[in-house]
Formats: sequence, C-alpha cells, structure tokens
Amino acid sequence: MTEEFEVTPYKVSGEVDYDELVDRFGTKKIDDDLIDRLARHGPLHIMLRRGIFYSHRDLDWVLDQYDKGVGFTLYTGRGPSGPVHIGHTMPWLFTKYLQDTFKASLWFQLTDDEKFMFYDHLSLEETKRWGYENALDIIALGFDPDLTNIFLDTEYIKTMYPTAVKAAKRINFSTIRAVFGFDNSNNIGSIFFTSIQTVPCFLESMQRESNVPCLIPCGIDQDPHFRVTRDIAEGLGFLKPALVHAKLMPSLAGSEKMSTSTKGEDTVFMTDDEATTKRKIMNAFTGGRVSVEEQRREGGNPEICAVYQYCLYYFEPDDAKLAELHASCQSGSILCGECKSRLFDKVWKFLENHQVAREKAKDRIEEFFVRD
Ligand code: TRP
Repeated sequence: MTEEFEVTPYKVSGEVDYDELVDRFGTKKIDDDLIDRLARHGPLHIMLRRGIFYSHRDLDWVLDQYDKGVGFTLYTGRGPSGPVHIGHTMPWLFTKYLQDTFKASLWFQLTDDEKFMFYDHLSLEETKRWGYENALDIIALGFDPDLTNIFLDTEYIKTMYPTAVKAAKRINFSTIRAVFGFDNSNNIGSIFFTSIQTVPCFLESMQRESNVPCLIPCGIDQDPHFRVTRDIAEGLGFLKPALVHAKLMPSLAGSEKMSTSTKGEDTVFMTDDEATTKRKIMNAFTGGRVSVEEQRREGGNPEICAVYQYCLYYFEPDDAKLAELHASCQSGSILCGECKSRLFDKVWKFLENHQVAREKAKDRIEEFFVRD
C-alpha cells in the first residue's frame, strides 16, 4: 500500500511514489533503449545515470527528429518567487547538458505573472525583481548566449499574447479545475495562467514561421500544464511538445519538494555564504542513529538521508564512490558528521564558483534577454 501523496504544479504533499506517478500521469519511464540512444550522443549525464531524470513524453520522437536533421528547441522556466536554491538548479543543469549536446536553442520563461497570481505576499513589482535576480543564477550556470532566450512574462507579453488567447479559447474551466485541483475560490488569473505557460512551447516555431519540435526538461510537478498543452497544440497548428521529467530534489529536512516558503534553513540558496551553507548542511536530516554506539553497531539508512540524496543527485558524480558511501553508511563505518562535512566541501565549491559567475552575469543580462 502506498501512502497518500499529491503532485500538481501548485501542491506537492506526502511521500511521492515516482513509479506510481508515471502511471497516474500516463508518462513513460526512460528505459534502457532510450538511455543507450542518449549515450550515443555524448557522455551520459549523471541525472540520467542515476534515474533523477526518469520519465518522459515523446523523447524518442525528439531524438528521431534530431537524427533526421530536423533538430529541436528546448524550453524550461522558473517561477520567480524568491531566491534560487540548489534544488531549482538541477533541471537547469540538465537543460544545459541538452543544449551543449544537441546544440539546441533554449527558451527560458520567468513567470512573474504566475507567482504574483498565486502568492498573496508578493507584489508584481517583487516577482519581477526576483525574475531579474533569478536570471543571474540562470546565466551563471553557463548557458550559451547565442542559443538562449530568457524573458519575463509581463515584458514579453506582446509576442506571446495572441497565441495565449488562441490557446485559452480551447481550454475549458472544467479541465483546469480537474488538472490543477482548483475550485471556485481561485482567482481568474490563475485559471488563465496555463495558457501563458503553453506559449513558449511554440516560440521557436513562431519565430521561424515553421514547426520545430520542442523538448521541455522540468520537474515532474509541471507535467499537468503540458498535458493541457499537448491536447491543444495540434489544433493551434503546432507540434505537441515533448517532455523529460525529473524527480524533485528533497530538502535538507528530508523528502518532499525543496521549498522556498519555509524559513530557509532546510534549503541551500545559491547566494548563501560559507558559514550559512555549513550551518544548514551540518543540521541536515540524516539516516543516522540516536547514538554513535548504535550507529557503529546498526549502521545508518542512506535511503532516507538528505545528505546521501544530495550526493546521489549531483554532488558525488563518481558512481563507485557513491556505492562506497552507501555501503559504509549501512555498515556503520562512517558517521553523519564526517559525511556532512564532506558534502559541505563539495557544495561550497559549487556555490563559490557559482557566485563568481553570478557577479559577472550582472553585465550580461542583455546578451540573454529577448524583448518585443
Ligand atoms: N510554473 C513554473 C514554476 O512555478 C515555471 C515554469 C514556466 C516552467 N515554464 C516552465 C517550469 C517550463 C518548467 C518548464 O516554477
């Protein structure tokens, strides 16, 4: 019996069973054939090897199109409601791998409108300001400026609006209510919003005036939006977008989607300083036992450990070393303190580099933004 859990773009709760989610959403697992196909294009990304990006819609078709020389474009996004944390960057790092491997253009949507509509505590000016702040983190990850188009919804609306209204006309309220779990108390902007998240699937095609396949790397919580998109795409004269889905990175407090709405102690922000990062990691939830003696005797549980999950997702890229860590945790030969401090070293190195690149990004905004 699996526990109750819920995943929508606006709510993630309970212990998520990712295999069951594939059945519920009607997506496909990334199987060995697909992994082999991807491996032929270059070194397999860690998040594919580790099953972090684990589900898809029509990824095989996108690769067929690529092999035929048609190519494809990438689309992902960010809801700018606060500072970017490490969990947010995971799908973006994967998107960069896809851009580099397939030399694909990328459309990066900043949904200042969405976050304003969904959060009572944020003004539109604030979500816009977070949009520009978050863009620095995105640029700092190293996307190719010649292939990358970043835009803020409230600014790029002139380009998007005609297609958004055509999309909106094809979407019923009953569909939105069922897909997102809305009720009569939701404001009407939130009901309309999915049509704005739909449009970037078609921006490359609109710009080139000819249909280009689109692949969306995203957390699986975003899939409901694109189920709606896929149902209406052909009616609008476009191709259905393809998707590749990631599991949601657990917070330092254990499982569940890393959230920016908590006080921030269980997430590492990209702008955290060294002492803050250390404090957060040293306080992380682990699979350790109550006493050193018990842990030496019984061993720890890496499966429920936030520190181990961080290593798995990204911070221990060497598969052999990860297996060793797993084994020495279970056997009780390594204790949580040591494990945390090793993780801290890796996370801090990542953040230190990021923060330098982020400073430089301040002069590079216009290289990446598209405007209408
Ligand atoms: N709605 C997403 C969020 O809250 C942001 C987003 C917009 C997005 N377009 C996207 C995410 C495309 C993934 C793919 O965070």
